[in-house]
Amino acid sequence: MCGIVAAAAGKNIVPVLVEGLKKLEYRGYDSAGLAVISGASIERVRSVGRVAELEIGSANTQSVTGIAHTRWATHGVPSERNAHPHVSGSIAVVHNGIIENYESLRRDLTAQGYVFTSDTDTESIAHLLEATLKREPDLFKAVQITCRQLVGAYAIAVIDHSQPGKVIVAREGSPLLLGVSDTGNYAASDASALLQVTRNMVYLENGDIAELTATSVKITRLDGTPVERPVHVSQLSAAAVELGNYQHYMQKEIFEQPEALANTLEIVGGSKSIQPGIFGADAANLMADVDSILILACGTSSHSGFTARYWLEAIAGVTCNVEIASEYRYRTSVANPRQLIVAISQSGETADTLAALRHAKSLGQMKTLAICNVPESAIVRECALRFITRAGPEIGVASTKAFTTQLAALFLLTLVMAKVKERLTPGQESVYIDQLRHLPVAVNKVLELESDIEVWAKRFADKHHALFLGRGRHYPIAMEGALKLKEISYIHAEAYPAGELKHGPLALVDADMPVISIAPNDQLLDKLKSNLKEVQARGGELYVFADADSEMAESEGVHVLRLPEHYGELSPILHVIPLQLLSYHVALVKGTDVDKPRNLAKSVTVE
Ligand code: AGP
Repeated sequence: MCGIVAAAAGKNIVPVLVEGLKKLEYRGYDSAGLAVISGASIERVRSVGRVAELEIGSANTQSVTGIAHTRWATHGVPSERNAHPHVSGSIAVVHNGIIENYESLRRDLTAQGYVFTSDTDTESIAHLLEATLKREPDLFKAVQITCRQLVGAYAIAVIDHSQPGKVIVAREGSPLLLGVSDTGNYAASDASALLQVTRNMVYLENGDIAELTATSVKITRLDGTPVERPVHVSQLSAAAVELGNYQHYMQKEIFEQPEALANTLEIVGGSKSIQPGIFGADAANLMADVDSILILACGTSSHSGFTARYWLEAIAGVTCNVEIASEYRYRTSVANPRQLIVAISQSGETADTLAALRHAKSLGQMKTLAICNVPESAIVRECALRFITRAGPEIGVASTKAFTTQLAALFLLTLVMAKVKERLTPGQESVYIDQLRHLPVAVNKVLELESDIEVWAKRFADKHHALFLGRGRHYPIAMEGALKLKEISYIHAEAYPAGELKHGPLALVDADMPVISIAPNDQLLDKLKSNLKEVQARGGELYVFADADSEMAESEGVHVLRLPEHYGELSPILHVIPLQLLSYHVALVKGTDVDKPRNLAKSVTVE
């Protein structure tokens, strides 16, 4: 999704803007631009395509004050004229989010004589601010007045060549933080863009507006009331967002999973027992009378929720429902104040998940828990309880390590709920904790399958469709495998619980339809084998991920790879890894843009 970088410093900030945009590339974008104050004018450079092109275009640009943007098209096609910044009179604006009342603003401003040169909602902000400056010449106050007229979600950054040396930023609904330092002050959509200049971050709240100069930072609410926001020292390491020796971020992130899981599970420490307190100081109190769980999430995060449903009901005996956030927020549901709402999100900024959480709270469902990878994100801040997965920054659009760490967090939730419901003996608890601790080692062993999976991937190069099959708690893993394959290799893929095959999808099976099956050695293995026979009988090509001890033989049209060990309840965490590797290598074979697949954004901050 769109990314913003802004800077006011004592030296040339163009390289900082460009480097910041490069760090935000992972969010997804189709065009980029920057504007700086250059003497008595605004100098603007925009390009369709990669930030690298913008870098070339701005090679001779220098300034101490500027704003920059990567755009992900919503209003208007990707084109140079729709790329930000948008200019009106002496000002330039970049914007992340969606302005819902832009049509009426556009009508009014056109009637006042403003000429629109783009199809964007953002250009309305530029002209509205320019019109406001005629009545209120102070830029900071003019931005406050302008923002009060905007309906929708936004993070904006503004410069004015008639008031040089300052950048005004504001946020409502879309992420924006400040980076403060002795040599300059900065703003960006996320911390990774600013680590190049500072670790000291200030997270703006919705309704905050800030004025940055090279030596000062002033923050108020939109009505002008001054506010103080704490400075957080970011723990993100710059190396964590570097590619290192890997070819792609997705590959790096797949291989970081042992470490990400170890970090996430560190909270359990050397203990043989876990306490509700790992979800927050008030967790024991809040969970005491929970009678059911409702998980809200989108995409991959919803798949971790669907997996956890099996655990929560089987181990903790707690009814659990999972709802796609974008659906839940608009349907009439029966509120249950004793239900625990669990919002799962890698980014913590997904607009649909945030809106679903707010919707649940508006219904009086105040027992809320965030499972999230970004500690200062909106979803974390709006939940009563929190569990921060410690996957480190996930740059590849296709979520991998965020998913497996979410699963680890959800398994901890299962154990805590099982304890609260007195369904877990100390012996069982200790066995599960030992299995969790062993996970990083087990994942490492699964990663050793990469070269075998590479061989399989070559056979997918000319395929247009694929079916993923799983049963029980591995059905959501099949869903995740299908999502991974389609989002990065553009092969149409669908997931089915294997028992559903004969109720429809079997009609699709022929030699051109690879069928990928997750076949752990559990109580459903024999049933699954019968389902696979149905595929084989129709000439389908089967790719089976079995466990070391599964009785699954290779035969004509049946290829089998074995995971090193059967991992019981935690098996879904191991079985998703070969599916991530398969998608990655199929995408390599197909030559797609692995980390930035077409049409997709990493952080979906608009509805
Ligand atoms: C994952 O590979 C996808 N890119 C996507 O489905 C993602 O999981 C979804 O948009 C939710 O994002 P979140 O976890 O940041 O809320």
